[in-house]
Amino acid sequence: MTLSNSIADERVWPELGACRVPSWVYTDQELFEREMEKFHYGKTWNFVGLECEIPEPNSYRRSFVGPRSVIITRDEQGEVHVVENRCAHRGAPVCWKQSGKGKDLTCPYHEWTYDLSGNLQGVPFLRGAKPHPGMPRDFNKADHGLRKLKTHVHNGTIWASYSEDVQPFEDYVGPEILRFINRVFPGREIRLLGYSRQHIPGNWKLYFENSRDPYHATLLHSFFTTFGLYRADAKFCVTPQPNGHEYIYSHFTSNTREASADMAAEMKNIKSSFTLEDMSVVTPVDEFKDGLISSLQVFPSIFIQQHGNILALRHILPKSAGGTELAWTYFGYADDTEEMKQLRLKQGNLVGPAGYVSLEDSEVLTQVQRTLTSAPDTVQVIEMGGRDNFEPSETAITETLLRSFWKFYRSEMGFDGAVA
Ligand code: FES
Ligand SMILES: [Fe+2]
Repeated sequence: MTLSNSIADERVWPELGACRVPSWVYTDQELFEREMEKFHYGKTWNFVGLECEIPEPNSYRRSFVGPRSVIITRDEQGEVHVVENRCAHRGAPVCWKQSGKGKDLTCPYHEWTYDLSGNLQGVPFLRGAKPHPGMPRDFNKADHGLRKLKTHVHNGTIWASYSEDVQPFEDYVGPEILRFINRVFPGREIRLLGYSRQHIPGNWKLYFENSRDPYHATLLHSFFTTFGLYRADAKFCVTPQPNGHEYIYSHFTSNTREASADMAAEMKNIKSSFTLEDMSVVTPVDEFKDGLISSLQVFPSIFIQQHGNILALRHILPKSAGGTELAWTYFGYADDTEEMKQLRLKQGNLVGPAGYVSLEDSEVLTQVQRTLTSAPDTVQVIEMGGRDNFEPSETAITETLLRSFWKFYRSEMGFDGAVA
């Protein structure tokens, strides 16, 4: 799609392309609507939930694709569906509960009833109340179901697309991302450990960028650096992927607590002498037997994180140009020992809305959005690692994933020809 005669024409992307980002991309509501059409309602696969959240036939749970409410359901036969949570009659949300069980869903407004695959089953007063006629004789219930999204289930994860022409899921994510999804979701039964949700008064792309920006993670998050969980002196693999995806992994070893003198001089927040009463919070067990900490983003909806023994999903839910909801899901495996479950819960204190490290992200992004809103004609600089460098990196001191994202974004949104 090209943004003909609209934003792309009116707005001029700054010189230097992907290593410059104009602040108005985070604040313009019309651009936001176009992003939703292009990405979230376009030819993409959006994460919507886990199979274990709808464990039995006739269970359902609400989720989102972009700002639109959807329902993930498991019908009587056990098949998974994703339907819009929007009544075909007058648009009321059909499902008002976060999750539940039942053979059908009844809209509270005029009580139209749908089965769990979204087919309209019942319309009160379909034949009227004599002598009044009710609905027209040719009203066909089959034409008025809930809107059904294309649905794909992969090793316990559920994905949805508004496009019938979207690539197969495996092609959309690509082999590298699939390898990292399968590392965390190998087909083992998943056990839910909990949820948290937070509203960040910032643009969804800011959050997307934040979690693909290892440069900040080694500096802003002093808890990480102090306890050696994520340090600039570790060996990293920071890898842009097609379709806006990326993955990062780094090697965790106990000696990452010992920063070289050069590194320590750059990392002013390191407090090497600090210790904790309970060091197990920062002492992961190498459960995947590869010594890695890994994270990946599947554009446009999800950040999948394995940090030590924390397994967490960050579902990025855009609400408006200036607001994003972040829905966290914490999980482990059904065959985890009780000890491992407790370790996951304990380490989970690092992340989430009030996490020892994640708290700073939402605060920084809140403040960034404020300053950008007050100065939409300003420009961001993304040059760490090289202005034209879009290559994978072995260090966290890089912004290659941000440049790669903006290169992808500019091309998809039709801004490519708009370089001054
Ligand atoms: S809006 Fe749902 S039944 Fe009328
Ligand atoms: Fe961060």
